[in-house]
Amino acid sequence: MTDPDGSPDDRRDPGSSHEADCVPVPSAFEGRATPTDDDRDEFAVNWPAAWARAGDALEWERDYDAVLSTGDDGGPPFEWFAGGELNACANCVDRHLPERADAVALEWNGHIGESRTYTYRDLHREVNAVAAGLRDLGVDADDVVTTYLPAVPAVAVVMLACARLGAVHNVVFAGFSADALATRMERAGSRYLVTSDGYYRRGEAVDQRRRADNATMSLPYELDATVVVDRLGTNPDVSRDDRHAYDALVDAYDGERVAPVPRAATDPLFRIYTSGTTGEPKSVTHTTGGYLAQVAWSTRRVLDVTADAVVWSTADPGWITGHSYGVYGPLALGATTVLTEWSPDAVDPDRPWALVEDLGVEVLYTAPTVVRSFAKWGAEHPAGHDLSSLRVLGSVGEPFDAETWEWYYEHVGGGDCPVVDTWWQTETGAVLLSTLPGVDEARPGAVGGALAGVGASVRDASGEPTDPGQRGWLTIDRPWPAMARELATATDWGARVAAESGVGRDGDWWYRVGDEAFVDADGYVTVLGRADDVVNVDGRRFSTGEIEHALVEVAGVAEAAVIARDDPDSGNALVAYVTTADERTDVSTLREALGDAVAAAIGAGVRLDQVVFTPDLPKTRSGKIMRRLLEDIANGEGYGDTSALRNPEVVGELEARHQD
Ligand code: WT7
Repeated sequence: MTDPDGSPDDRRDPGSSHEADCVPVPSAFEGRATPTDDDRDEFAVNWPAAWARAGDALEWERDYDAVLSTGDDGGPPFEWFAGGELNACANCVDRHLPERADAVALEWNGHIGESRTYTYRDLHREVNAVAAGLRDLGVDADDVVTTYLPAVPAVAVVMLACARLGAVHNVVFAGFSADALATRMERAGSRYLVTSDGYYRRGEAVDQRRRADNATMSLPYELDATVVVDRLGTNPDVSRDDRHAYDALVDAYDGERVAPVPRAATDPLFRIYTSGTTGEPKSVTHTTGGYLAQVAWSTRRVLDVTADAVVWSTADPGWITGHSYGVYGPLALGATTVLTEWSPDAVDPDRPWALVEDLGVEVLYTAPTVVRSFAKWGAEHPAGHDLSSLRVLGSVGEPFDAETWEWYYEHVGGGDCPVVDTWWQTETGAVLLSTLPGVDEARPGAVGGALAGVGASVRDASGEPTDPGQRGWLTIDRPWPAMARELATATDWGARVAAESGVGRDGDWWYRVGDEAFVDADGYVTVLGRADDVVNVDGRRFSTGEIEHALVEVAGVAEAAVIARDDPDSGNALVAYVTTADERTDVSTLREALGDAVAAAIGAGVRLDQVVFTPDLPKTRSGKIMRRLLEDIANGEGYGDTSALRNPEVVGELEARHQD
């Protein structure tokens, strides 16, 4: 992997211009798109004031004093919409009631085929009941409420109920282990948990309750309350005073109203954890005003969602995509959001298309790894359904190769729907780079340029913008409303230059996002992948350090290095290189223990594709493991000079073991 202070490596040839591969706006789409180009002109002359256009997407209790306020030198701390007050739940629910109470807010489709429809009126009712219940359990403004739930409506309801109370939600993906849950609760000082008896995974019931109990027992404090959703029909035991059944809570408070608590624009709306480079989960906090404004605005512009649109963002609510484009964006606009308890790449190949057809999905937002599964299953599956409701197709999470892009465009969109490849991160909160549907031509393989109001560059190690085609680091050059609070308030620029994220120097501020990229002459950015110790597998983000940490805890293991190898299905596959303390260790039992350790530390969904036992790991003279060399070996690629290695003889050894 690239040393953050070194220069981006140049192993792969970025290739030349995409000019030949442009896909113009589909003619059938002309006239069906709502975004226009005029925001770009406005932002070009009027930044940051033009971000008021995003602010206008919301209803404010109190007007903001300034769109952006900065530190004295124009740098951080950045505050968006300072002085303004609003409530996110009121924006996503209450304000639609006068005109759209009977419009569908949420369509839920469960793992075993159940479905549930919430109108805005229904959503308002349940959110109020849950907010009243949580308030009586002691939840107050700024308290952190953790959810550990599968993708059921209760996740969205609890998120909105927290927002209503001014409490901070902390959604943890249900597939995470007890240890991972405990860390994420403890770091956030969370004293409230909403979990379930279990959930379904690939048709099988998984016991969630025991994992949640193990997690809470390991916390150094007692929880104030735990609410349990009965997902499996087990009628979970809630006899203890601090345990409550979700359904009983909703019934008990049905019909109650809780006034939305006005929040400052800069107040936290939620926390979410992601993987950083340090091996520790990285906490990201999003704000009430800036986040919601840019999320609503980008849902409108980039995904072309209008109030009557049906949007299916396939990501689990446990990830930022589920927060921004599954819950907050569509609901802020009064649209219908589709929530599925299943992942579209892990079901019967016709099920996603039957759902699109049944619900009249207009906007489909998913990840390349999912589209690769669709393509593998074959075009006959989408072809067997009426997909004419689809209007815009989106992708996020990892580089979208041109071939898979074309498949999506042809076989899902029928050549009529623009495909937007959107680049963003947990830290950015909202899409920052993308083409606009109906406005820009697409270049399969490239994400497009920075959206109006956003500045982006690709820079070399000294911070200078690179020439077209030259690889470097992707940076975001100006603050943006949905930026995580941690980025907005990081004033120690110098110290952060070497750190994993926020970067700024001498009066310039920019944020180095951790990706390697290159830009073409027209400003279309091609993202090559992470340049740090973060890997994307199946569209999910892991820290190699976190996995390594779990591996070296296993008895008998001396050292471990984890890298991602290119994989045609998942994009990346994880390979672990492990040295044992004693050469005579039985590696077959160890192999199993390693898999278990990773599952326990992070979650059962994290799978090591290959474990390579080796007497030694390649190291520099200063003792740093050369992960880049391991990547090259795993990919069967040539590698350059290995003379910088302290132990060059290990290379031949590793190659031989790879073939074992
Ligand atoms: C990382 C962020 C934002 C929701 C999903 C992931 C990669 C994201 C793209 C894209 C190439 C992409 C980057 C980024 N990524 N979108 N369109 N093309 N790579 O959020 O878990 O915070 O991961 O995902 O490497 O840094 P995340």
